[in-house]
Amino acid sequence: MDYELGEDFALKLDAVDSLAGFKERFYALPDSIYMDGNSLGLMSVDAERTLLRVMDEWKTLGIKGWGGGKVPWIGYAERLGELQAPLVGVDPEEIVVTGGTTVNLHTLVATFYKREGKRLKILADELNFPSDLYALSAQIRLRGGDPDTDLVLVKSRDGMVIEEDDIIDAMSDEVALALLPSVYYKSGQLLDMERLTREAHKHSIVIGFDCSHSVGVIPHYFSEWGSDFAFWCGNKPLTCLPVALI
Ligand SMILES: Cc1ncc(COP(=O)(O)O)c(C=O)c1O
Repeated sequence: MDYELGEDFALKLDAVDSLAGFKERFYALPDSIYMDGNSLGLMSVDAERTLLRVMDEWKTLGIKGWGGGKVPWIGYAERLGELQAPLVGVDPEEIVVTGGTTVNLHTLVATFYKREGKRLKILADELNFPSDLYALSAQIRLRGGDPDTDLVLVKSRDGMVIEEDDIIDAMSDEVALALLPSVYYKSGQLLDMERLTREAHKHSIVIGFDCSHSVGVIPHYFSEWGSDFAFWCGNKPLTCLPVALI
């Protein structure tokens, strides 16, 4: 297709866009063009309807809602996981939707971070999301370690991006676990998660990714790549997913 500059061409593309109809399913704010999908998207009609339905089920079913809601409440974590599985390229039973992002990171690091022999360190980078770094420091302290020595932060050469080769160079047999973002929130840089997983595993390092800024935007193939864990926010691009199915 030959692209043309100008509003007429943009409107023509809108008219044939298969996603255009979804606009009607969101509550637009008056007099604004809402571009924010990286912090909190607009409320969708589907999300509102589902929440109100579940509130009504609580009112009318009480405890029986666990097994008797339209979608039995007890299975929501798995049902929502099943819906997100294709976005990250995993089997439905490998994913669950639960908790908050930083709480989930704590849980994952508590599970995957094994300090053994001289393998004591966690590898991350200085552009990682600040609350992720706080969580990693806290997990190191909880195991009796010292973040000043046990949290290795790969430096950015320009304050905006991280060279993948610098991350790989920092993978040593002193590193137990690596945690990296898929996409950097400041620059939009996308890391090659497949390559980094392969390199981490060559050094027997467990590797996980914070995919808050990539899930729902680009495809992921975690089963194929063999990455050890991943987590992400549901309030960023995923807010834009219609939830009619649940
Ligand atoms: C990349 C990334 N990781 C982690 C978080 C932390 O999320 P929460 O504050 O919901 O735990 C955010 C929040 O904006 C984020 O953008």
